[in-house]
Amino acid sequence: MLKKFTDPLPIMKTIRPTSYIQNVPFYEVTMQETIQKLHRDLPPTRVWGYNGQYPGPTFQVLRHQPIHVLWKNELPDRHILPIDTTVHGAEKNNPEVRTVVHLHGGVTPDTSDGYPEAWFTRDFQKTGPHFTNRLYTYPNHQPSTNLWYHDHAMGITRLNIYAGLAGMYIIHDQEEARLNLPNGVFDIPLIVQDRSFHVDGRLLYPSEPDKPLTAPRPSVVPEFFGDTILVNGKVWPYFNVEPRRYRFRILNGSNTRFYRFSLSNGAPFIQVGSDQGLLEIPIRVQSLILAPAERADVIVDFSTCYGESIVLRNEFETQGEKPDPETTGTVMQFRVVQSLTCPDDSSIPAHLAPVAKLTHYQQTRTLRLNMRKDSYDRSIHLLDDRLWSDPVSETPRLGQTEIWNLINETQATHPIHLHLVRFQILDRQPFDRDLFEKEGRIVPTGPRVPPTLNERGWKDTVRANPGEITRIIIPFGPYPGLFVWHCHILEHEDYEMMRPYVVIR
Ligand code: C2O
Ligand code: CU
Ligand code: CU
Repeated sequence: MLKKFTDPLPIMKTIRPTSYIQNVPFYEVTMQETIQKLHRDLPPTRVWGYNGQYPGPTFQVLRHQPIHVLWKNELPDRHILPIDTTVHGAEKNNPEVRTVVHLHGGVTPDTSDGYPEAWFTRDFQKTGPHFTNRLYTYPNHQPSTNLWYHDHAMGITRLNIYAGLAGMYIIHDQEEARLNLPNGVFDIPLIVQDRSFHVDGRLLYPSEPDKPLTAPRPSVVPEFFGDTILVNGKVWPYFNVEPRRYRFRILNGSNTRFYRFSLSNGAPFIQVGSDQGLLEIPIRVQSLILAPAERADVIVDFSTCYGESIVLRNEFETQGEKPDPETTGTVMQFRVVQSLTCPDDSSIPAHLAPVAKLTHYQQTRTLRLNMRKDSYDRSIHLLDDRLWSDPVSETPRLGQTEIWNLINETQATHPIHLHLVRFQILDRQPFDRDLFEKEGRIVPTGPRVPPTLNERGWKDTVRANPGEITRIIIPFGPYPGLFVWHCHILEHEDYEMMRPYVVIR
């Protein structure tokens, strides 16, 4: 087993524009294969990185300042991970290595949103059926928050992200700056991901499911759990901190794994933001759940911890069991060993940003999260019992607000994400599964439970728990067009738990 806390936490570089096109910053990002040391005792690992870095460089942008990005693919022709060619979009006649970049949480017109079928290969030699343009534009007209960019190519997203194609994208604005939260070197993004390795250092991603025996080889798997935890691309790193407040922008960038973060010294997290920006007021939590793609913006106060070593733990229970503290129960370590370089004059104001509650809406949709068996007897996860290739069924009108009732008939929580929009969680309510299965009726068995305090901000990904109706309220806009919504467990997303949707005029 790899030794913990041997490597310092890497901090991703901030990317700089290469030029300006009529005063709009222009960035060029090239996807490249590279080798990286992911742990002191692990041989170098072949990874894919934006600008040859895993994780990719961090974008730091200002609200209302649009940017252009030219995403280029200089990856090899062969994939470094096993491809299942029975998965829609990954068939044998398609190029093995295809990429398209999506800015997760970005309010982006569809031509720059990274539609899964808008993929392209090395030097744009081949492009997918929905490819429209090379140069992407991000308007950045949204409040300060922590977004991330990652690959979204049809049928191989789980493999491309696992190979390393992900990075942070932070939007700043004046409202955020005025709060005087910890900043500069005391404001740190943390991308948490799990991985497994072969002894020679290669990334290990399963190519065969345990069952059924009839499955093709390689085969998509219904879930992936790595046996090590990486933060910013290092296995179980440590981070030397000063006895003061820090701001951590935490992203769960894992394929399937959920986390419940906590600090070994019992200190709380003061959560100031969620997926889509600042909460109304800071929320003090002892532990923090993040499903894949969810983000939490938190303040941790080390001011009384001089000399201590504090472990960031993961205590997310699966089937009543906590992860092993020796492995995936540990995330990283903070060492409060540095002396104060300057006094901490940051603050945590009692009020952060107004979050106006949505109440008015024009339409309601009831959408199932369900399962089927494919022709190989593998389970296939679906949105409202439809395949990706079925005709578009969700067509909200531009400027209208809808309530979506997500009815989770499966046994697992699915983090449901919609492109383009931000939404609010209304409530969650258990329903009678038996009645639903027998008669198709939805009969609640308990009250509607409002979201937790730290879920009461703007979201773009919501945990829909099994046996529950999760209700979200979504204003559609500001752009019409073709987008997607999907489960963000990448193994589900790739295997049919993703649907196109159209915002119509
Ligand atoms: Cu984070 Cu459709 O993606
Ligand atoms: Cu997204
Ligand atoms: Cu799912």
